[in-house]
Amino acid sequence: MTESLRPLIAGNWKMNGSRATTRDLLAELRASLRESGPARCDIVVCPPAPHIALAAVEMEAVSGIELGGQDCHAAVSGAHTGDVSAAMLVDLGCTCVIVGHSERRADHGEDSETVRAKADAALAAGLTAIVCIGETHEERDAGRAKDVVARQLESSLPGAANARNTAIAYEPVWAIGTGRTPDEAEIGEIHALVRARMGDRLEDGGGVRILYGGSVKPDNAAWILSVPDVNGALVGGASLDAASFWSICQSCP
Ligand code: 13P
Repeated sequence: MTESLRPLIAGNWKMNGSRATTRDLLAELRASLRESGPARCDIVVCPPAPHIALAAVEMEAVSGIELGGQDCHAAVSGAHTGDVSAAMLVDLGCTCVIVGHSERRADHGEDSETVRAKADAALAAGLTAIVCIGETHEERDAGRAKDVVARQLESSLPGAANARNTAIAYEPVWAIGTGRTPDEAEIGEIHALVRARMGDRLEDGGGVRILYGGSVKPDNAAWILSVPDVNGALVGGASLDAASFWSICQSCP
């Protein structure tokens, strides 16, 4: 991990939970924060959109854990049934939003140009964009992982990106929800590539946080977070269990 960058641990709850589980999970996280004191990382939880308002009430006046959205529309407002704008997320108390998650790319046919438009909208609304990229298993097997990631990064990065308003999440599709992770060298290779591209594209590219996502659990978080240029994690399944998520947060060096 780059020494000077404060890690970011983000929990992506995906389409899970109810009002009751949202309350319980956040109450447990509040208790952990109280017991352990401030974490060595920035922490964000991203509930499903219908539960963000409740989460905001639960986390009111709690510092040390912020809220994020899982997606936003590229438009400011209008006739987009079922969608959520970046301004709505801000209004609810979110400080960031995930864009371009592979599940959005696969389930909703989002390409990198769409992802960039969403990220542009997020930045314009004052949110931090967590831009997701990552190769499929077939692409890795074909030796194309670096090419795919570089291309996605190039086309998904918002125009106004800088180290304060943008983070990149490398999430190999084949590692998501499977219990499989790349090895240290494989994670290191992609993160180094992302770091180099950020350096080429942005004046402060060395300060962009690059998160790893895909089967991050309490028992692998420490080594993953110690790989050079891994500046945090985007956590799916393990973020639904407060003890596991907190343990991952505590694994930051
Ligand atoms: P898992 O941690 O469940 O593999 O999910 C990763 C992910 O997709 C986070 O956005």
